[in-house]
Amino acid sequence: MFLHGTSRQNERGHLEIGGVDVLSLAERYGTPLYVYDVALIRERARKFQKAFKEAGLKAQVAYASKAFSSVAMIQLAEQEGLSLDVVSGGELFTAIKAGFPAERIHFHGNNKSPEELAMALEHQIGCIVLDNFHEIAITEDLCKRSGQTVDVLLRITPGVEAHTHDYITTGQEDSKFGFDLHNGQVEQAIEQVLRSSAFKLLGVHCHIGSQIFDTAGFVLAADKIFEKLAEWRETYSFIPEVLNLGGGFGIRYTKDDEPLAADVYVEKIIEAVKANAEHFGFDIPEIWIEPGRSLVGDAGTTLYTIGSQKEVPGIRKYVAIDGGMSDNIRPALYEAKYEAAVANRMNDACHDTASIAGKCCESGDMLIWDLEIPEVRDGDVLAVFCTGAYGYSMANNYNRIPRPAVVFVEDGEAQLVIQRETYEDIVKLDLPLKSKVKQ
Ligand code: LLP
Repeated sequence: MFLHGTSRQNERGHLEIGGVDVLSLAERYGTPLYVYDVALIRERARKFQKAFKEAGLKAQVAYASKAFSSVAMIQLAEQEGLSLDVVSGGELFTAIKAGFPAERIHFHGNNKSPEELAMALEHQIGCIVLDNFHEIAITEDLCKRSGQTVDVLLRITPGVEAHTHDYITTGQEDSKFGFDLHNGQVEQAIEQVLRSSAFKLLGVHCHIGSQIFDTAGFVLAADKIFEKLAEWRETYSFIPEVLNLGGGFGIRYTKDDEPLAADVYVEKIIEAVKANAEHFGFDIPEIWIEPGRSLVGDAGTTLYTIGSQKEVPGIRKYVAIDGGMSDNIRPALYEAKYEAAVANRMNDACHDTASIAGKCCESGDMLIWDLEIPEVRDGDVLAVFCTGAYGYSMANNYNRIPRPAVVFVEDGEAQLVIQRETYEDIVKLDLPLKSKVKQ
Protein backbone atom coordinates (compact mmCIF):
# COMPACT_ATOMS: atom_id res chain seq x y z
CA MET A 1 0.00 0.00 0.00
CA PHE A 2 1.30 3.43 -0.91
CA LEU A 3 1.45 5.76 2.07
CA HIS A 4 1.98 9.49 1.52
CA GLY A 5 4.19 11.84 3.51
CA THR A 6 4.55 10.89 7.18
CA SER A 7 1.77 8.28 7.00
CA ARG A 8 2.87 4.89 8.26
CA GLN A 9 1.63 1.76 9.87
CA ASN A 10 2.42 1.69 13.60
CA GLU A 11 3.21 -1.22 15.90
CA ARG A 12 -0.48 -1.60 16.76
CA GLY A 13 -1.28 -2.15 13.11
CA HIS A 14 -2.96 1.24 12.93
CA LEU A 15 -2.48 4.04 10.45
CA GLU A 16 -0.44 6.87 11.86
CA ILE A 17 -0.10 10.34 10.34
CA GLY A 18 2.24 13.04 11.61
CA GLY A 19 3.19 10.74 14.49
CA VAL A 20 -0.44 10.48 15.64
CA ASP A 21 -2.46 7.24 15.65
CA VAL A 22 -5.52 8.08 13.56
CA LEU A 23 -7.72 5.86 15.75
CA SER A 24 -7.14 8.31 18.59
CA LEU A 25 -8.16 11.14 16.23
CA ALA A 26 -11.36 9.35 15.23
CA GLU A 27 -12.16 8.80 18.89
CA ARG A 28 -11.39 12.33 19.97
CA TYR A 29 -12.86 14.32 17.11
CA GLY A 30 -15.36 11.86 15.61
CA THR A 31 -15.78 10.89 11.98
CA PRO A 32 -15.88 11.80 9.17
CA LEU A 33 -12.70 13.71 9.82
CA TYR A 34 -10.22 15.33 7.47
CA VAL A 35 -6.66 14.88 8.71
CA TYR A 36 -3.83 16.96 7.21
CA ASP A 37 -0.18 15.97 7.32
CA VAL A 38 1.37 19.40 7.93
CA ALA A 39 4.95 18.22 7.35
CA LEU A 40 4.03 17.08 3.86
CA ILE A 41 2.49 20.46 3.02
CA ARG A 42 5.64 22.19 4.29
CA GLU A 43 7.86 19.82 2.30
CA ARG A 44 5.96 20.56 -0.95
CA ALA A 45 5.94 24.30 -0.35
CA ARG A 46 9.70 24.25 0.19
CA LYS A 47 10.34 22.05 -2.83
CA PHE A 48 8.49 24.38 -5.20
CA GLN A 49 10.32 27.42 -3.83
CA LYS A 50 13.75 25.80 -3.63
CA ALA A 51 13.76 25.03 -7.34
CA PHE A 52 13.40 28.74 -8.12
CA LYS A 53 15.97 29.75 -5.49
CA GLU A 54 18.51 27.29 -6.85
CA ALA A 55 18.04 28.75 -10.31
CA GLY A 56 18.66 32.21 -8.79
CA LEU A 57 15.34 33.49 -10.11
CA LYS A 58 12.78 35.81 -8.61
CA ALA A 59 9.54 33.95 -8.26
CA GLN A 60 6.31 33.66 -6.33
CA VAL A 61 4.71 30.35 -5.48
CA ALA A 62 1.09 31.26 -4.80
CA TYR A 63 -1.02 28.68 -3.03
CA ALA A 64 -4.31 28.29 -4.92
CA SER A 65 -6.48 28.44 -1.84
CA LYS A 66 -9.55 27.09 -3.65
CA ALA A 67 -7.98 23.66 -3.03
CA PHE A 68 -8.47 24.10 0.72
CA SER A 69 -8.99 27.37 2.47
CA SER A 70 -9.21 27.91 6.21
CA VAL A 71 -7.61 30.39 8.59
CA ALA A 72 -5.04 27.84 9.82
CA MET A 73 -4.24 26.68 6.29
CA ILE A 74 -3.65 30.25 5.13
CA GLN A 75 -1.44 30.86 8.19
CA LEU A 76 0.56 27.77 7.27
CA ALA A 77 0.98 29.10 3.73
CA GLU A 78 2.20 32.39 5.20
CA GLN A 79 4.67 30.58 7.52
CA GLU A 80 6.09 28.83 4.48
CA GLY A 81 6.58 32.08 2.58
CA LEU A 82 3.99 31.29 -0.09
CA SER A 83 1.90 33.87 -1.86
CA LEU A 84 -1.84 33.32 -2.14
CA ASP A 85 -4.32 32.97 -4.96
CA VAL A 86 -7.92 33.75 -4.02
CA VAL A 87 -10.93 33.56 -6.30
CA SER A 88 -13.77 35.04 -4.30
CA GLY A 89 -14.64 37.50 -1.58
CA GLY A 90 -14.93 34.54 0.80
CA GLU A 91 -11.41 33.30 0.09
CA LEU A 92 -10.10 36.85 0.31
CA PHE A 93 -11.91 37.39 3.62
CA THR A 94 -10.40 34.16 4.99
CA ALA A 95 -6.94 35.34 3.98
CA ILE A 96 -7.45 38.73 5.63
CA LYS A 97 -8.82 37.09 8.79
CA ALA A 98 -5.75 34.85 8.84
CA GLY A 99 -3.55 37.94 8.77
CA PHE A 100 -2.01 37.01 5.43
CA PRO A 101 0.10 39.87 4.00
CA ALA A 102 -2.16 41.60 1.48
CA GLU A 103 0.69 42.38 -0.89
CA ARG A 104 1.19 38.66 -1.53
CA ILE A 105 -2.48 38.03 -2.42
CA HIS A 106 -3.51 37.62 -6.06
CA PHE A 107 -7.18 37.83 -6.98
CA HIS A 108 -8.62 35.58 -9.70
CA GLY A 109 -12.08 34.89 -11.04
CA ASN A 110 -14.15 35.29 -14.18
CA ASN A 111 -16.91 37.35 -12.59
CA LYS A 112 -15.54 39.28 -9.66
CA SER A 113 -18.28 41.51 -8.35
CA PRO A 114 -17.85 45.25 -7.76
CA GLU A 115 -18.04 44.50 -4.01
CA GLU A 116 -15.31 41.89 -4.24
CA LEU A 117 -13.09 44.18 -6.28
CA ALA A 118 -13.69 47.05 -3.87
CA MET A 119 -12.69 44.76 -0.98
CA ALA A 120 -9.50 43.80 -2.82
CA LEU A 121 -8.65 47.45 -3.41
CA GLU A 122 -9.50 48.46 0.13
CA HIS A 123 -7.04 45.87 1.44
CA GLN A 124 -4.48 46.86 -1.21
CA ILE A 125 -3.84 43.30 -2.30
CA GLY A 126 -0.79 42.57 -4.42
CA CYS A 127 -2.39 41.92 -7.75
CA ILE A 128 -5.68 41.58 -9.56
CA VAL A 129 -5.71 39.11 -12.42
CA LEU A 130 -7.97 40.86 -14.92
CA ASP A 131 -10.14 38.32 -16.68
CA ASN A 132 -12.53 40.24 -18.93
CA PHE A 133 -13.60 43.64 -20.23
CA HIS A 134 -16.41 44.00 -17.70
CA GLU A 135 -13.90 43.68 -14.89
CA ILE A 136 -11.46 46.12 -16.47
CA ALA A 137 -14.23 48.72 -16.55
CA ILE A 138 -15.37 48.11 -12.95
CA THR A 139 -11.84 48.05 -11.54
CA GLU A 140 -10.84 51.17 -13.42
CA ASP A 141 -13.89 52.98 -12.14
CA LEU A 142 -13.24 51.90 -8.54
CA CYS A 143 -9.57 52.90 -8.76
CA LYS A 144 -10.45 56.31 -10.14
CA ARG A 145 -12.87 56.89 -7.28
CA SER A 146 -10.37 55.91 -4.60
CA GLY A 147 -7.40 57.45 -6.40
CA GLN A 148 -5.57 54.14 -6.44
CA THR A 149 -3.36 52.40 -8.93
CA VAL A 150 -3.42 48.62 -8.83
CA ASP A 151 -0.96 46.04 -10.11
CA VAL A 152 -2.62 43.74 -12.61
CA LEU A 153 -1.96 40.71 -14.76
CA LEU A 154 -4.06 39.91 -17.80
CA ARG A 155 -5.41 36.39 -17.84
CA ILE A 156 -5.00 34.95 -21.28
CA THR A 157 -6.11 31.67 -22.79
CA PRO A 158 -3.18 30.53 -24.86
CA GLY A 159 -4.97 27.76 -26.76
CA VAL A 160 -3.27 24.99 -24.80
CA GLU A 161 -5.36 22.68 -22.67
CA ALA A 162 -3.66 20.09 -20.54
CA HIS A 163 -4.96 17.29 -18.41
CA THR A 164 -3.05 14.36 -16.96
CA HIS A 165 -0.95 12.91 -19.80
CA ASP A 166 -2.49 14.75 -22.70
CA TYR A 167 -2.56 18.25 -23.90
CA ILE A 168 -4.40 19.68 -26.84
CA THR A 169 -3.76 22.87 -28.68
CA THR A 170 -6.61 24.80 -30.13
CA GLY A 171 -6.39 27.85 -32.36
CA GLN A 172 -9.06 29.50 -30.29
CA GLU A 173 -9.91 28.56 -26.76
CA ASP A 174 -13.49 27.74 -25.87
CA SER A 175 -13.23 28.82 -22.26
CA LYS A 176 -15.11 31.09 -19.90
CA PHE A 177 -11.80 32.38 -18.54
CA GLY A 178 -9.55 35.12 -19.80
CA PHE A 179 -8.76 36.85 -23.06
CA ASP A 180 -8.16 34.80 -26.16
CA LEU A 181 -4.58 35.07 -27.35
CA HIS A 182 -5.43 34.64 -31.00
CA ASN A 183 -8.54 36.60 -31.88
CA GLY A 184 -7.44 40.14 -31.08
CA GLN A 185 -9.24 40.35 -27.71
CA VAL A 186 -6.06 40.34 -25.69
CA GLU A 187 -4.66 43.25 -27.70
CA GLN A 188 -7.84 45.20 -27.12
CA ALA A 189 -7.50 44.49 -23.38
CA ILE A 190 -3.82 45.47 -23.25
CA GLU A 191 -4.56 48.75 -24.99
CA GLN A 192 -7.26 49.58 -22.44
CA VAL A 193 -5.06 48.64 -19.50
CA LEU A 194 -1.96 50.46 -20.73
CA ARG A 195 -4.00 53.58 -21.48
CA SER A 196 -5.46 53.77 -17.98
CA SER A 197 -3.75 55.40 -15.02
CA ALA A 198 -5.67 52.98 -12.76
CA PHE A 199 -3.47 50.05 -13.72
CA LYS A 200 0.11 48.97 -13.63
CA LEU A 201 0.34 46.00 -15.98
CA LEU A 202 2.86 43.54 -14.55
CA GLY A 203 2.44 40.85 -17.17
CA VAL A 204 0.25 37.94 -18.13
CA HIS A 205 -1.28 34.88 -16.53
CA CYS A 206 -2.46 31.58 -17.92
CA HIS A 207 -3.68 28.34 -16.36
CA ILE A 208 -3.78 25.40 -18.73
CA GLY A 209 -5.50 22.73 -16.66
CA SER A 210 -5.36 20.53 -13.62
CA GLN A 211 -3.87 17.19 -12.51
CA ILE A 212 -1.19 17.47 -15.23
CA PHE A 213 1.57 14.83 -15.30
CA ASP A 214 3.61 16.20 -18.14
CA THR A 215 5.48 19.42 -18.73
CA ALA A 216 4.91 19.75 -22.48
CA GLY A 217 1.75 21.84 -22.03
CA PHE A 218 3.54 24.39 -19.82
CA VAL A 219 6.40 24.63 -22.30
CA LEU A 220 4.03 25.14 -25.20
CA ALA A 221 2.07 27.79 -23.30
CA ALA A 222 5.33 29.64 -22.54
CA ASP A 223 6.34 29.45 -26.21
CA LYS A 224 3.03 30.88 -27.37
CA ILE A 225 3.08 33.66 -24.78
CA PHE A 226 6.61 34.76 -25.60
CA GLU A 227 5.78 35.00 -29.31
CA LYS A 228 3.03 37.44 -28.35
CA LEU A 229 5.24 39.28 -25.86
CA ALA A 230 7.73 39.92 -28.65
CA GLU A 231 4.92 41.40 -30.76
CA TRP A 232 3.68 43.56 -27.89
CA ARG A 233 7.17 44.88 -27.27
CA GLU A 234 7.10 46.22 -30.85
CA THR A 235 3.53 47.48 -30.81
CA TYR A 236 3.19 48.80 -27.28
CA SER A 237 6.79 48.93 -25.96
CA PHE A 238 5.43 46.67 -23.23
CA ILE A 239 8.00 44.58 -21.35
CA PRO A 240 6.52 42.11 -18.83
CA GLU A 241 7.88 41.94 -15.30
CA VAL A 242 5.86 38.86 -14.43
CA LEU A 243 4.83 35.68 -16.16
CA ASN A 244 2.31 33.57 -14.23
CA LEU A 245 1.90 30.04 -15.59
CA GLY A 246 -0.82 28.95 -13.17
CA GLY A 247 -1.13 25.66 -11.33
CA GLY A 248 -2.26 22.19 -12.28
CA PHE A 249 0.64 20.01 -11.15
CA GLY A 250 -0.58 16.45 -10.70
CA ILE A 251 -0.55 14.19 -7.66
CA ARG A 252 -0.78 10.44 -7.08
CA TYR A 253 -4.33 9.47 -6.19
CA THR A 254 -3.94 5.82 -7.22
CA LYS A 255 -1.26 3.53 -8.58
CA ASP A 256 -2.25 4.58 -12.11
CA ASP A 257 -1.08 8.15 -11.44
CA GLU A 258 2.55 8.99 -12.08
CA PRO A 259 3.10 12.66 -11.42
CA LEU A 260 6.46 14.38 -11.57
CA ALA A 261 8.11 15.73 -8.44
CA ALA A 262 7.30 19.37 -7.61
CA ASP A 263 10.79 20.57 -8.47
CA VAL A 264 10.76 18.83 -11.86
CA TYR A 265 7.72 20.83 -12.97
CA VAL A 266 9.46 24.00 -11.84
CA GLU A 267 12.75 23.12 -13.53
CA LYS A 268 11.02 22.51 -16.87
CA ILE A 269 9.06 25.74 -16.56
CA ILE A 270 12.24 27.66 -15.79
CA GLU A 271 13.99 26.04 -18.75
CA ALA A 272 11.17 27.02 -21.10
CA VAL A 273 10.98 30.60 -19.83
CA LYS A 274 14.76 31.04 -19.95
CA ALA A 275 15.02 29.63 -23.48
CA ASN A 276 12.24 31.89 -24.73
CA ALA A 277 13.57 34.97 -22.95
CA GLU A 278 16.95 34.37 -24.52
CA HIS A 279 15.51 33.65 -27.95
CA PHE A 280 13.37 36.79 -28.00
CA GLY A 281 15.88 38.99 -26.15
CA PHE A 282 13.96 39.61 -22.92
CA ASP A 283 15.26 39.74 -19.36
CA ILE A 284 13.87 36.72 -17.54
CA PRO A 285 10.58 37.85 -15.99
CA GLU A 286 9.63 36.97 -12.44
CA ILE A 287 7.89 33.59 -12.70
CA TRP A 288 4.75 32.95 -10.67
CA ILE A 289 3.04 29.59 -10.30
CA GLU A 290 -0.17 28.65 -8.48
CA PRO A 291 -0.16 25.09 -7.15
CA GLY A 292 -3.26 24.05 -5.24
CA ARG A 293 -3.74 20.29 -5.40
CA SER A 294 -0.01 19.51 -5.36
CA LEU A 295 0.49 21.42 -2.09
CA VAL A 296 -2.35 19.91 -0.08
CA GLY A 297 -3.92 17.03 -2.01
CA ASP A 298 -1.98 14.02 -0.82
CA ALA A 299 -1.47 15.61 2.60
CA GLY A 300 -5.18 15.07 3.32
CA THR A 301 -6.77 11.80 4.49
CA THR A 302 -10.44 11.40 5.38
CA LEU A 303 -11.39 9.05 8.20
CA TYR A 304 -14.83 7.45 8.15
CA THR A 305 -16.57 4.94 10.38
CA ILE A 306 -17.91 1.88 8.64
CA GLY A 307 -21.60 1.17 9.19
CA SER A 308 -23.99 -0.96 7.19
CA GLN A 309 -23.03 -3.56 4.62
CA LYS A 310 -25.08 -5.03 1.83
CA GLU A 311 -24.24 -8.11 -0.19
CA VAL A 312 -25.86 -8.38 -3.61
CA PRO A 313 -25.23 -12.07 -4.28
CA GLY A 314 -23.05 -12.69 -7.29
CA ILE A 315 -22.75 -8.96 -7.97
CA ARG A 316 -21.04 -6.94 -5.28
CA LYS A 317 -20.72 -6.05 -1.65
CA TYR A 318 -21.51 -2.51 -0.55
CA VAL A 319 -19.84 -1.16 2.57
CA ALA A 320 -21.32 2.12 3.76
CA ILE A 321 -19.44 4.86 5.58
CA ASP A 322 -20.69 7.81 7.64
CA GLY A 323 -19.90 10.42 4.97
CA GLY A 324 -19.84 10.50 1.19
CA MET A 325 -20.55 13.03 -1.54
CA SER A 326 -21.26 15.68 1.09
CA ASP A 327 -17.58 15.65 2.13
CA ASN A 328 -16.07 14.37 -1.13
CA ILE A 329 -18.04 15.13 -4.26
CA ARG A 330 -15.16 14.35 -6.62
CA PRO A 331 -16.05 10.69 -7.38
CA ALA A 332 -19.66 11.68 -8.21
CA LEU A 333 -18.64 14.78 -10.15
CA TYR A 334 -15.52 13.65 -11.99
CA GLU A 335 -15.43 9.86 -11.50
CA ALA A 336 -12.33 10.58 -9.43
CA LYS A 337 -10.54 7.50 -8.11
CA TYR A 338 -9.11 7.04 -4.61
CA GLU A 339 -7.20 4.47 -2.62
CA ALA A 340 -8.20 3.57 0.92
CA ALA A 341 -7.26 1.31 3.82
CA VAL A 342 -8.86 0.08 7.02
CA ALA A 343 -7.00 2.24 9.50
CA ASN A 344 -7.39 -0.08 12.49
CA ARG A 345 -6.33 -3.23 10.59
CA MET A 346 -3.45 -2.19 8.44
CA ASN A 347 -1.81 -5.62 8.85
CA ASP A 348 -4.82 -7.67 7.80
CA ALA A 349 -4.67 -9.22 4.36
CA CYS A 350 -7.07 -7.78 1.80
CA HIS A 351 -9.16 -10.88 1.06
CA ASP A 352 -12.37 -9.06 0.36
CA THR A 353 -13.63 -6.77 -2.39
CA ALA A 354 -16.12 -4.12 -1.44
CA SER A 355 -17.51 -0.94 -2.93
CA ILE A 356 -17.56 2.00 -0.57
CA ALA A 357 -20.92 3.72 -0.47
CA GLY A 358 -21.65 7.15 0.92
CA LYS A 359 -24.68 7.80 3.10
CA CYS A 360 -26.39 10.35 0.87
CA CYS A 361 -29.71 9.58 -0.77
CA GLU A 362 -28.35 9.16 -4.23
CA SER A 363 -27.21 5.97 -6.01
CA GLY A 364 -24.30 7.91 -7.46
CA ASP A 365 -22.92 8.54 -3.99
CA MET A 366 -20.18 5.92 -4.23
CA LEU A 367 -16.68 6.81 -3.07
CA ILE A 368 -14.71 3.82 -4.35
CA TRP A 369 -15.76 0.90 -6.53
CA ASP A 370 -14.32 -2.59 -5.99
CA LEU A 371 -11.80 -1.82 -3.29
CA GLU A 372 -9.66 -4.66 -2.02
CA ILE A 373 -9.87 -4.63 1.76
CA PRO A 374 -9.88 -6.98 4.72
CA GLU A 375 -13.27 -8.23 5.90
CA VAL A 376 -14.64 -5.21 7.75
CA ARG A 377 -16.99 -4.85 10.69
CA ASP A 378 -19.30 -2.17 11.94
CA GLY A 379 -17.15 0.43 13.68
CA ASP A 380 -13.96 -0.11 11.69
CA VAL A 381 -12.31 3.09 10.48
CA LEU A 382 -11.76 3.60 6.78
CA ALA A 383 -9.04 6.01 5.70
CA VAL A 384 -9.45 7.44 2.20
CA PHE A 385 -6.17 8.93 1.01
CA CYS A 386 -5.42 12.06 -1.00
CA THR A 387 -8.55 14.00 -0.10
CA GLY A 388 -6.74 17.20 0.87
CA ALA A 389 -7.53 19.18 -2.27
CA TYR A 390 -11.09 20.03 -3.31
CA GLY A 391 -12.48 17.83 -0.53
CA TYR A 392 -13.41 20.17 2.30
CA SER A 393 -13.48 23.09 -0.12
CA MET A 394 -16.22 21.42 -2.17
CA ALA A 395 -18.03 19.92 0.81
CA ASN A 396 -21.72 20.64 1.05
CA ASN A 397 -24.76 20.04 3.21
CA TYR A 398 -26.68 17.70 0.90
CA ASN A 399 -29.23 15.82 3.00
CA ARG A 400 -28.46 18.43 5.67
CA ILE A 401 -25.39 16.49 6.67
CA PRO A 402 -23.06 18.68 8.77
CA ARG A 403 -19.60 19.24 7.31
CA PRO A 404 -16.82 17.30 9.08
CA ALA A 405 -14.10 18.73 11.28
CA VAL A 406 -10.53 19.28 10.08
CA VAL A 407 -7.46 18.39 12.09
CA PHE A 408 -3.80 19.21 11.43
CA VAL A 409 -1.21 16.71 12.67
CA GLU A 410 2.52 17.32 12.99
CA ASP A 411 5.30 15.90 15.18
CA GLY A 412 2.96 13.77 17.27
CA GLU A 413 0.53 16.65 17.97
CA ALA A 414 -2.99 17.13 16.68
CA GLN A 415 -4.74 20.46 16.36
CA LEU A 416 -8.38 21.04 15.49
CA VAL A 417 -8.43 23.73 12.76
CA ILE A 418 -12.05 23.60 11.65
CA GLN A 419 -14.80 22.53 14.00
CA ARG A 420 -17.42 20.02 12.99
CA GLU A 421 -20.67 21.63 11.94
CA THR A 422 -23.57 20.98 14.27
CA TYR A 423 -27.26 20.50 13.56
CA GLU A 424 -27.74 23.96 15.03
CA ASP A 425 -25.33 25.29 12.40
CA ILE A 426 -27.42 23.55 9.76
CA VAL A 427 -30.56 25.50 10.67
CA LYS A 428 -28.74 28.67 11.73
CA LEU A 429 -29.70 30.66 8.63
CA ASP A 430 -33.23 29.29 8.34
CA LEU A 431 -36.16 31.54 9.16
CA PRO A 432 -39.62 30.34 10.17
CA LEU A 433 -42.55 30.42 7.82
CA LYS A 434 -44.60 33.59 8.18
CA SER A 435 -47.69 32.92 6.10
CA LYS A 436 -50.70 31.31 7.75
CA VAL A 437 -52.86 28.52 6.39
CA LYS A 438 -55.75 30.14 4.56
CA GLN A 439 -59.11 28.79 5.79
N1 LLP B 1 -4.73 28.73 -10.80
C1 LLP B 1 -5.90 28.86 -11.44
C2 LLP B 1 -6.16 30.07 -12.20
C3 LLP B 1 -6.86 27.84 -11.38
O1 LLP B 1 -8.00 27.96 -12.03
C4 LLP B 1 -6.59 26.68 -10.60
C5 LLP B 1 -7.57 25.61 -10.47
C6 LLP B 1 -5.35 26.60 -9.93
C7 LLP B 1 -4.44 27.65 -10.05
C8 LLP B 1 -4.97 25.43 -9.07
O2 LLP B 1 -4.95 24.26 -9.78
P1 LLP B 1 -4.37 22.92 -9.10
O3 LLP B 1 -2.90 23.12 -8.88
O4 LLP B 1 -5.10 22.72 -7.84
O5 LLP B 1 -4.69 21.85 -10.10
N2 LLP B 1 -12.37 20.98 -8.46
C9 LLP B 1 -11.46 20.34 -9.38
C10 LLP B 1 -10.26 21.19 -9.66
C11 LLP B 1 -10.62 22.55 -10.23
C12 LLP B 1 -9.41 23.38 -10.47
C13 LLP B 1 -9.79 24.75 -10.85
N3 LLP B 1 -8.71 25.66 -11.01
C14 LLP B 1 -11.03 18.99 -8.80
O6 LLP B 1 -11.52 18.63 -7.73
O7 LLP B 1 -10.28 18.26 -9.42
